Amino acid sequence: KRVVVFISGGGSNMLSLVKAAAEPDFPAEVVAVIADKAEAGGLAKAAALGIPTFSFVRKDFDSKEAHEAAILAELDRLRPDIICLAGYMRLLSAAFIQRHEGRILNIHPSLLPLFPGLHTHQRAIDAGMRLAGCTVHFVTEGMDDGPIIAQAAVPVLAGDTAETLAARVLTVEHKTYPMALRLVAEGKVEMKDGRAASHAVGE
Ligand code: GRF
Repeated sequence: KRVVVFISGGGSNMLSLVKAAAEPDFPAEVVAVIADKAEAGGLAKAAALGIPTFSFVRKDFDSKEAHEAAILAELDRLRPDIICLAGYMRLLSAAFIQRHEGRILNIHPSLLPLFPGLHTHQRAIDAGMRLAGCTVHFVTEGMDDGPIIAQAAVPVLAGDTAETLAARVLTVEHKTYPMALRLVAEGKVEMKDGRAASHAVGE
């Protein structure tokens, strides 16, 4: 399966996907990395690993539609089976999502449906949570509310700050995203009628 990864920043999740996909038994390959910022640190990391990179800088386009049209045109050339948003800090339009319905995955740094949106770690601490974690889900038109594919939890420790908790969550993100991508690439989980349908092993 052909995978394109979208980033906006350092791309640590992108790197974990690239490393997992490099394993011979992995059922997917990362064929390109796309960023919405020319200076996204992940672009250099992907290029260093020989992966084609593309940046589509929003301010170079006079509308969200034009920006997305340029990305969609590149995707028509790349022909991805799966798109992984990984630290991509831009909402996709309904038209974009419909064009790739069921093929777009995202990782969010909370145990959805708790704490959609931003500042998830501080919100978890402020709420007195004893667990935090990450969620990989199919992307739908709502923000952070598509069908869940995989989750991982970590403890919230006394004295945790948003930074210490973010670092602990990031370590499980880097394991959970490749596992979720494998499930989707193998067809063990797919989005059907708006739900994540799991198929029993061997089905
Ligand atoms: C991570 O917390 C991820 O969950 C969120 O963006 C943060 C940075 O990700 N989507 P990365 O290091 O750029 O992959």
